[in-house]
Amino acid sequence: MIYLNGRFVPLEEATISVLDRGFIFGDGVYELIPVYSRKPFRLNEHLARLQRSLDAIRLPNPHSEAEWHGLIDQIIGLQAFDDQSVYMHITRGVAKRDHAFPAAGTPPTVMMMANPLVTPTSAQIETGVAAVTAVDNRWLRCDIKGISLLPNVLLRQLAVDAGAAETILLRGGFMIEGAASNIFVVKDEVIYAPPKNNLMLPGITYDVVLELAAQNGVQSHIGAVPERLLRHADEIWQTSSTREVLAVTTLDGEPVGDGRPGLLGQRMLEWYQAYKLSVMRA
Ligand code: PDD
Repeated sequence: MIYLNGRFVPLEEATISVLDRGFIFGDGVYELIPVYSRKPFRLNEHLARLQRSLDAIRLPNPHSEAEWHGLIDQIIGLQAFDDQSVYMHITRGVAKRDHAFPAAGTPPTVMMMANPLVTPTSAQIETGVAAVTAVDNRWLRCDIKGISLLPNVLLRQLAVDAGAAETILLRGGFMIEGAASNIFVVKDEVIYAPPKNNLMLPGITYDVVLELAAQNGVQSHIGAVPERLLRHADEIWQTSSTREVLAVTTLDGEPVGDGRPGLLGQRMLEWYQAYKLSVMRA
């Protein structure tokens, strides 16, 4: 079942106009919330990021926080599986094609769906994954979780074409993030992460990882990450709502560190799993 504009309908009946501004212009924003044992993870943080994305594109939020909570609970309840990824998508609605905003009061299109949550396989956790690098050719508002993802699609496909799991993006000699994930570097037991700014998506998992590092006495350094630090890293991690904390063990065909998932990354994944369990039980 899909939620579309006020109704839960079967996938086949969830249809939109070809004039939807999401379809025509990619004029909209989205969120993806992982759900463990039917409990949404960091829900308030995801809804706060959604609000920031909506504010950035000047689209009024169609629902109050309480309404979102209700809709998310309903879509979770409609699924037969416990671990889900809830996808939320809001566009500037249907209007005659014109770049400028449609008349005030044009109803936005609101869509939600839930799919089984696909996290890394035990083989991927054991060996880590490969990544390639590419020049970040996206726009300068990558902090908005916008649905116009053509650059991210093309960049992620570079990884797939190379038999890798992610493309790590470089801009002006610095590591920014992945095509659909945040990236951490470990050198001499210090975690390095780029700052949250207009160049990258402020990941919810990124925040959790930094909180867990602080709680466990691991030093982290937030600041521009030079490409040479990435290339000489002891460990590289990829983080996202679906990849969780996943070791990158090959970069552009070269081993990262000794080519195996590092100790700190293994501990971070354990802390992450323990944190998930504590949230599920709460
Ligand atoms: N992607 N950076 C980009 C460009 C992303 O698309 C994502 C998430 C992240 C990580 O954010 P979070 O930890 O909040 O998932 C960083 C989602 C999973 C997607 O588009 O499917």
